[in-house]
Amino acid sequence: MRSVIYPAYRFSRSVCYVSNMLSEAIKDRLEDREYLDLHLAAIALVAKVGEVPWYDAHFLRRFEAAKLYLAEVAPEYLEGFTAGFAPLRPAASFEICTLNALFDDAVRQEIRAVVQSLSDAQLERHEVKDFGRDVVHDHPFFLQLQRDLLPLVSELAGRELVMGYNFLSLYGGLGQCAPHLDEPMSMYTLDYCIEQSGTWPIHFSKPVAWPGSSAMQAWNEEGLKSDPAMDWTSHELRPNQALLFNGSSQWHYREPITPGGYCNLLFFHFYPADCEKLVRPHLWAEHFELSVLQPLCDIFAAEAENGRLG
Ligand SMILES: [Fe+2]
Repeated sequence: MRSVIYPAYRFSRSVCYVSNMLSEAIKDRLEDREYLDLHLAAIALVAKVGEVPWYDAHFLRRFEAAKLYLAEVAPEYLEGFTAGFAPLRPAASFEICTLNALFDDAVRQEIRAVVQSLSDAQLERHEVKDFGRDVVHDHPFFLQLQRDLLPLVSELAGRELVMGYNFLSLYGGLGQCAPHLDEPMSMYTLDYCIEQSGTWPIHFSKPVAWPGSSAMQAWNEEGLKSDPAMDWTSHELRPNQALLFNGSSQWHYREPITPGGYCNLLFFHFYPADCEKLVRPHLWAEHFELSVLQPLCDIFAAEAENGRLG
């Protein structure tokens, strides 16, 4: 491991900002000079990657920060670390799959009854501005549906999967969904249409390599949507149909919904078995058995505790 000396004055403002987020246990670790040096390197490199301009991008932002960090403080581990994410890449043979008539009438009726029973207090409003939707995460009935779907989705994906999470998405008349890649915790998404005012296309790129730091900084929405190399395809869902796609490697978006329309969708997210720590950046030191990553992972954990989950 390289010895890295960071004059504290260069980072005093960052240290103050981050130290406000850190747990008492981490603050104690900062008393150790070696930990402090790595902590300061981690802060500088997280700042260097900066913000990523699309929704759900915290995983890739952290992946880029980790690569920069290892390149600087322990380059001998960089190649193995990067290669370790191969399980989160789709198989070359992966194709989007449409499922017709996913649930029987009784289940469909129960789903609609759950939607109609939701109180204002159950609706999460934090995506009204950017998506024009109310959401509800991991409702017990939808969790049970997701458990029931797990064997089918594993079979379709051609690998053993585990459940990430699910959410109900109630798009209203201002519904839209800008292009983005999902976090690998939602590597495989089953997008189920409950009901809608009319068909509303969703557009997918082919599976692509994860963009690196420079691509992130140069990224722009219109350039992506008009890039022929993305091989965009469009799909329309009807009620009781679902699409299985690979949202962490396929860009996807919806144009604004027809004014005054609505679309109620359920998103069931899955990821590969044995990747429980790999999909959680604050556990990468443990997953890779690399203690040198711990100061960086501690910052990721602090971000998560402070609501920056991604
Ligand atoms: Fe998505």
